[in-house]
Amino acid sequence: MTAAEWRWTDKLVRALPAEVYGDPEIFARERQTVFSKSWRLIGHTSMMPEAGDFITDDLAAAPIILVRSENGAVNGFYNVCRHRAGPLATERTGNCRGEIVCRYHGWRYALDGRLRSATRFGSVAGFDPRDYGLRPVRVEQWRGFIFANLDNTAAPIAKMLAPLDEVWRASMDQPFALRRSHEIACDWKVYVENYLEGYHVPNLHPKLDEDIDSSNYQVEMRGNVAIHHAPPRKQGVYCGLWGWVFPLTGFNGFQHGVLMERITPVAPRRTRLEYLYFFNPDRRAELNAMIELSDITTAEDIAMCEQVQINLDSGAYCPGPLSPQHEESVGWFQAEMREHLGIDAS
Ligand code: FES
Ligand SMILES: [Fe+2]
Repeated sequence: MTAAEWRWTDKLVRALPAEVYGDPEIFARERQTVFSKSWRLIGHTSMMPEAGDFITDDLAAAPIILVRSENGAVNGFYNVCRHRAGPLATERTGNCRGEIVCRYHGWRYALDGRLRSATRFGSVAGFDPRDYGLRPVRVEQWRGFIFANLDNTAAPIAKMLAPLDEVWRASMDQPFALRRSHEIACDWKVYVENYLEGYHVPNLHPKLDEDIDSSNYQVEMRGNVAIHHAPPRKQGVYCGLWGWVFPLTGFNGFQHGVLMERITPVAPRRTRLEYLYFFNPDRRAELNAMIELSDITTAEDIAMCEQVQINLDSGAYCPGPLSPQHEESVGWFQAEMREHLGIDAS
C-alpha cells in the first residue's frame, strides 16, 4: 500500500516500529530519500530586502546560500566555491556588497553566480572562468516565504501549497519579527507525529486547551499538507488554524501573524526547532502574548517527545494502534515514511 493509496479504513493501523526512531542507518536513508528531495522553508523575502542580502543554510547536509540579486530575484547556490570547495559565506545572514567573495582564496562571483574573477589565479590554457559559475540550487517563493529544494524534478512549491491558499488568512501575511530556537533530544519523526495530532491537547496542554475547543480539533490531509482546525474558545491569540507541510515545515496561525516552524533533523535522536515569527509590527503586546503561549506549549511538547524517545529506545514498546478518530494524519505520515524507507506495513 503506498501513501498515495493510503486511506483510513476499518482496519486497525499500527504505529511504526520503535527501531526507526533514532537509527543512524535510517537517518542516512532519510537524508537521501526524503530531505534531499523535498521543499525546505529557508526564510522570507522580508528577511533579505536589499541586493546582496544573503541567508546560508543546510539542505540535507549540503551547504547552500540564497542571495538577492540587483534585479530583485532571490538566487540559490551551493555554498561551495568552484575552486577548492571553500565557503562563500560563513555567517547565517548578512550582505555581501555587490559580489560574493570566497572566504578561502578570494574568487569573486556576481550575485547571479557567474565567476567574475579568479583572483590572482594566473593564466593557464584551458581555464575559462565562464565554466566555473556557482552551482545553482532551486529556489521558489510562496506568499513571500522562500523555499529551496535539491531536487530539480520536484513539483513546484506553489502546487504543493495550493491547499494552503484556500485556508490561509491575509492577517497571517506579516513581515519577519524574530527567530527563536529549541533543541529536542528525540528523532525528528517523534516530533512530527506529535505535531500531526490534536489528540494530546486536552491532556498535555491545559493552557492551550483554554484557548481552543479541542473537542472539535480536526486534522485533514490535503496532498502533502496537514491542515488543523480548532475553533478558538474566546478572543485569544490563536486564530484556530495550524498546519504542517511534509516533511519539515509547520505553521501556527495567530490573530495578527504566523509562527513558521523549521524542523531540523540534526542527528539521530537530535532535532532542532527554529521558530520564525512573522507579526504585525503594530501589535507588539499580542506578539509577546503569542510567544508566551507558544513557549509553554513547546516546553510541554518537548518534555513529552523526549520521554517518548526514551521509551522507544527502552525495548519495551511494540507498535500500538492509531486512533481512527484523531490520528489519521499520523497514519498518513507513517505510510509515507514506510514507502520512502522501504518498510513493510505490519
Ligand atoms: S576555494 Fe574559493 S577561492 Fe579557493
Ligand atoms: Fe502539542
